[in-house]
Amino acid sequence: MSEPAGELALSHRAEILRLSGITRAFQPGTPMETWVLKGIDLRLLAGELVALTGPSGSGKSTLLNQIGLLDYPTSGQLWINGTETAQLNDHERTELRNRAIGFVFQFHHLIHAFTVLDNVLMPLMIRHGKPSPADRALAVQLLTDMGLADHAHKPASQISGGQQQRVAIARALVTRPALLLADEPTGNLDTQSANTVFELFQHINQQYDCAILVVTHDPGLAARCQRTLTLVDGRMT
Ligand SMILES: Nc1ncnc2c1ncn2[C@@H]1O[C@H](COP(=O)(O)OP(=O)(O)OP(=O)(O)O)[C@@H](O)[C@H]1O
Ligand SMILES: [Mg+2]
Repeated sequence: MSEPAGELALSHRAEILRLSGITRAFQPGTPMETWVLKGIDLRLLAGELVALTGPSGSGKSTLLNQIGLLDYPTSGQLWINGTETAQLNDHERTELRNRAIGFVFQFHHLIHAFTVLDNVLMPLMIRHGKPSPADRALAVQLLTDMGLADHAHKPASQISGGQQQRVAIARALVTRPALLLADEPTGNLDTQSANTVFELFQHINQQYDCAILVVTHDPGLAARCQRTLTLVDGRMT
């Protein structure tokens, strides 16, 4: 029996991420105790493009750190690609993080002395040493997608801030992650560069079927995502 294509797309998309009752307290049990996340439930399906907004200090970066397995929740459960992460040891967490998740931060932390291409290849070199011809081909393709093919062999120090941000996006994608986490990736860019970066997210989302969760303070950019999550005082509203 065949299903209509639209229904198929909706009902059969894999669940990339699920959070159930995630909390995070800093300095628990002390007079300084602060509950930053107060019970977050969230699901993200393959290929979704979702904005995360909320006032400064509402817990957005803290939440991204939980999802990116960079920090441990105080309570609650978190699944990535169907794997419940609390049961993983440190090695397995790192392996899952490297395999499934790409990160783009506001400050891109490129290695300035390396070429643009080598910066993009870095996550693969960390993973398995010398890049293969296929690795290099993918890195060049991603740089081409980012409009940076002509800059591949320049030192990263010799390109503009907006171009560096696009290199950081290519670097985050070179491992073909199922989920891209971006924490205010356009926060220090002018409107036009921010727009370019956002269009690239839309392109990546479609071209590579990569789910993207992007923190932004810009309501215009959030409106262009498929849905918007808003965090206020540690809770989703
Ligand atoms: N390591 C830490 N120890 C104690 N408190 C922390 C720590 N990290 C974050 N916080 C607190 O948690 C709250 C949320 O911080 P977070 O960085 O997640 O906010 P945010 O929503 O990303 O804000 P912004 O939009 O300014 O980036 C803040 O009150 C912050 O002071
Ligand atoms: Mg933040």
